[in-house]
Amino acid sequence: MTAAQIKLVKRSWRIMMGIDPVLLGETFYGKLFNDHPELRHYFPKDMKEQYIKLTDMLSSIILRLDHQALSSVAEMGKRHVGYGVKPAHYNMVGKAMIWMLSKGLGTEWDRATEEAWIQCYTEISALMTSAA
Ligand code: HEM
Repeated sequence: MTAAQIKLVKRSWRIMMGIDPVLLGETFYGKLFNDHPELRHYFPKDMKEQYIKLTDMLSSIILRLDHQALSSVAEMGKRHVGYGVKPAHYNMVGKAMIWMLSKGLGTEWDRATEEAWIQCYTEISALMTSAA
């Protein structure tokens, strides 16, 4: 990611963090399970905790984007193998994430922000799958 892209991701994530995490979770997983119902069974029945885990983890990754402290991302990739997650799933999750961001950011969402997030997600998921 370029320095400008890191800035865009951080700025837009700060806006997203002003939104209720339950609403974010319902938007993200709602989109994911609507587009890919076959993924629902990987997750627990009650998703409330998962919403918080996802936003907390994204917050901690984004906070440290410019510090290369990404070993926790690799560890997370290894844990995901244990959840049954396959490399092909990352694209599906990435699409739902971009969709959630575009809805949450509304008029703050533009082409450069989209590109910055795609780059960010591509780098994180590459780290996760290569560690796996
Ligand atoms: C950048 C990509 C992703 C991030 C940041 C992320 C984040 C997380 C976090 C923080 C957890 C909590 C447990 C842990 O830390 O190990 C988790 C669990 C999980 N994730 Fe992901 N994840 C990502 C990609 C995916 C993908 C592609 C799938 C595929 C469907 C997936 C499916 C799951 C499942 C099934 C669980 C366990 C749920 C449970 O049984 O409690 N994740 N994820």
